[in-house]
Amino acid sequence: MELNLKGLGPKDMEYFENIEQEREKIIKDSSSSAIKTQYGANELANSLHPKEQFVKVVDIIEENEDTKTFVLAPDIEKGTKKLAYFRPGQYVSVEVKVDDGIYHRPYNISCSPKKVFDGFYTITIKRKKGGVVSNYFLNEVKVGDSFLISAPTGNFYYEPLRDATNVIAIVGGSGITPIISMAEAIKDGLLTCKLTILYGAKTEQNLIFKKELDELDKKCSLIDVKYILSEEDKEGYYYGYVNKDMIDQALESETSFFVCGPLSMYEYISDLLKEYQLPNKYIRHDAFFGRIDIPDNDLYELTVLTGEQEVKISCRSRETLLSAMEKNGILAPSRCHVGECGFCRSKLKSGMVRTIDGILRKADEENEYIHPCATFPESDIIIELPY
Ligand code: FES
Repeated sequence: MELNLKGLGPKDMEYFENIEQEREKIIKDSSSSAIKTQYGANELANSLHPKEQFVKVVDIIEENEDTKTFVLAPDIEKGTKKLAYFRPGQYVSVEVKVDDGIYHRPYNISCSPKKVFDGFYTITIKRKKGGVVSNYFLNEVKVGDSFLISAPTGNFYYEPLRDATNVIAIVGGSGITPIISMAEAIKDGLLTCKLTILYGAKTEQNLIFKKELDELDKKCSLIDVKYILSEEDKEGYYYGYVNKDMIDQALESETSFFVCGPLSMYEYISDLLKEYQLPNKYIRHDAFFGRIDIPDNDLYELTVLTGEQEVKISCRSRETLLSAMEKNGILAPSRCHVGECGFCRSKLKSGMVRTIDGILRKADEENEYIHPCATFPESDIIIELPY
């Protein structure tokens, strides 16, 4: 190739001749200290979205006989200096070791984000019949215990660009935890929307945060709380279930619904809301739940490939692959536990599985990826974890 030197003058030639000395001079004059690997922007990103956080239980509040609130502060000795900020409605995934198992469970943060600046979060846990982690928390955990938790995560939060300024939250049982966080954020001026909470429970005794909700209703003009009891007919409460009349009283031309509670409630409320023909974006659920009927309860072999290792365990057809791995102490990545976040997404190498409808994306289905938290075995199977 011929070099085209047209247009270069003597000054340019002089520059090229001296370029080597020039470079050496720059190297000699430069600082001998190590090149920076961390910048302000990275530090800020890490503090807002840490991979994990070490926390200590600094207080435990008994909400009712089956529910406790755990106050979590950063565990400075283990390297967490401050807690990551969150959006009201988000959850953290908590890691616990019980017997031979390693478990992760998502728990909604149940306080205002403002509490991060006071140095703590709260999570509120209701006992689940047969629930390893909820029973462990309610029976064993004490002040001073330390845990590893994820960064705040999840999409069940108010987003002014998407959601209407009038919000109706339809809540069942412990589903109140993300909603009280939203209500506290409104009271603290961190969210600007009107919030009506239709809170259903079996009895007055089963309501969580009754005192706090009454206080919010009284002191904040943007918040209105109505209680609906299904097994107790009592003055000051609605009796039965959330119905169209209750919704109509709070409805405006643009209204977003936030629905949070057990599966049976989702199904009932979904049918009720169909009448309003709302755009999809105006109906928010805290998690995707689908029913799956598994008639048998056979035992299969589950082979888990984790990098170089191969572990064989048993898995029943009525338990999820993730649940079998947790019980056997296999550290499988997970967050939401309901097939939504994709954090546990793994490759199905062989075998047949059942998956809750609507969980997998088409590309995952075609390429044989599954979400072990929402997948049940139908034969011996082999999966590869995402390491
Ligand atoms: S843990 Fe979220 S999809 Fe499985």
